[in-house]
Amino acid sequence: VGIKYELAPLQPRLALHEALAVLGVGDLHPGGSVATDFLLRELDKAAPSRVLEIGAGIGCTTRRLLERGWQVTAIEPNPILRAALENRSAVRAYPGTFETFDAVEPFDAVIAESVFYRLDLPHAFARARRLLRPGGLLALVDMVWTDAASADATAALTAQSERTFGIPIASFERLTWAGWRRELSSAGFAEVAAKRVGSWGSRDPRRWWRMLRNGTRHPRALAQYLSYRAATRIDSVPNGWLESWMSVWRRI
Ligand SMILES: C[S@@+](CC[C@H](N)C(=O)[O-])C[C@H]1O[C@@H](n2cnc3c(N)ncnc32)[C@H](O)[C@@H]1O
Repeated sequence: VGIKYELAPLQPRLALHEALAVLGVGDLHPGGSVATDFLLRELDKAAPSRVLEIGAGIGCTTRRLLERGWQVTAIEPNPILRAALENRSAVRAYPGTFETFDAVEPFDAVIAESVFYRLDLPHAFARARRLLRPGGLLALVDMVWTDAASADATAALTAQSERTFGIPIASFERLTWAGWRRELSSAGFAEVAAKRVGSWGSRDPRRWWRMLRNGTRHPRALAQYLSYRAATRIDSVPNGWLESWMSVWRRI
């Protein structure tokens, strides 16, 4: 597999998701707000009152959860994203990682958008199960490898994407959606709904204006973001090696 881009000599200071956060751009997960709508439609049916959001980013989904009148606990370990989240809302996020988070009372629902793919899945799903009440829901959307991906290449491609963008594109291990499903089932979850994500999500046309407006105050973030855009124009992962899934699971 040829990796066709290198950003050197420009040494990134802000990772891609950090530059976007500074520019006011969130919903950094496959399917964007359309995928979130799919997940929230399922959570709405269960009318949860206590919800845990893992890796809340700048808080686009946090706001949607709060607007429903739900009590939200947000976890956001990245100081740049957490500052953006806290500037935009009254929420005070837990500043550690999911792996270090604990709660006395169980949650009715847990949501994580583009977060689990970076974690050790058996441990993360077991922790999510422990934090949920019986019958509670787990909602997630992530990019995963397909059967077409070569197991020898996924670790190198993931490491390369992390070096280039400051955030990995997918799991290091070649875990396919069938593998994710198996991990979720063996952690004690039953599938409620699952759908392949059709595209990365429609772009809000106001996004560019917001980025430019914020970019005048934060030119370094804008310059950094533009350098990342130049890198993304060249595909590094062969077509058909990645796909994304959104799904909701019930704690058995
Ligand atoms: C791709 S971003 C997605 C952010 C947000 N969920 C969204 O969709 O816009 C991944 C997020 O997961 C957070 N994250 C990474 N490792 C984490 C961990 N171990 N525990 C909790 N959050 C983590 C990052 O700081 C970041 O906010």
